[in-house]
Amino acid sequence: MSELNLILFGPPGAGKGTQAERLRSDFQLPYIATGDMLRGNVKDGTELGQKAKEYMDRGDLVPDELIVAMAGERLDEEDAQDGFILDGFPRTVHQAEALSKQLSQVGRRITAVLLIDVPDEEVVRRLSGRRVCVKAGHNYHVEFDPPKHDDVCDQDGSRLVQRDDDKPEVVEKRLNVYHEQTEPVVHYYDEKGILRRVDGTRGPTEVHDHIRAVIATLRLEEDV
Ligand code: AP5
Repeated sequence: MSELNLILFGPPGAGKGTQAERLRSDFQLPYIATGDMLRGNVKDGTELGQKAKEYMDRGDLVPDELIVAMAGERLDEEDAQDGFILDGFPRTVHQAEALSKQLSQVGRRITAVLLIDVPDEEVVRRLSGRRVCVKAGHNYHVEFDPPKHDDVCDQDGSRLVQRDDDKPEVVEKRLNVYHEQTEPVVHYYDEKGILRRVDGTRGPTEVHDHIRAVIATLRLEEDV
């Protein structure tokens, strides 16, 4: 297989970020997470961050034109030319079409879309217990994946906090937005034959093993 262009897909809290951390070290691929990029812009007070913040705080999607431009520029960078892991993009059919157009213009395509399937009640459980470090956004869960010392990141020693959009009323909104605006993207990629489903209710290591098996199968299929 020449290049691995992966999309990690699924509802909020499905474990996309958790799996991405493992996959990026498995395959040495750049990890492009639109949520992290937006939070970086908010933190830096850029014009994009100022525009995006109100949507994010409400649990709404940031308008397509802003996201498509931001993700498109990132995908044009040198390190993304031999493969990438996308997380949180595309999230609407319009974004999926824009991505497909950008890649096809340079003879590239998405290798697979990995849908991490998790029911709504599990999403609520996971997001209410999620803690992230202020320095680099490393993820923990108070019950399923606690840090060694309370409220301190194992990896860089920074403080752990709850994300503003992990508050219960915002989580409910994010789930509604996912079902209404993002789920149609599942159908879009299923029709193209590149969607692969993974049971996200299993533990992080089992989910990781499953994803690796899916990628190994894709590589075998390409070699046949
Ligand atoms: P974004 O940051 O992309 O958030 P999200 O998609 O809602 O996903 P999360 O980061 O909340 O969850 P995750 O699936 O990565 O789960 P995680 O691994 O952390 O987007 C935020 C906002 O930005 C959006 O609402 C929107 O406003 C805007 N935005 C971003 N992209 C956009 C776009 N393309 N278009 C428009 N707007 C956009 O895991 C969650 C928790 O569960 C953790 O605590 C973890 O430790 C735990 N956990 C993980 N896996 C397991 C497991 N297998 N078992 C038990 N616990 C687990």
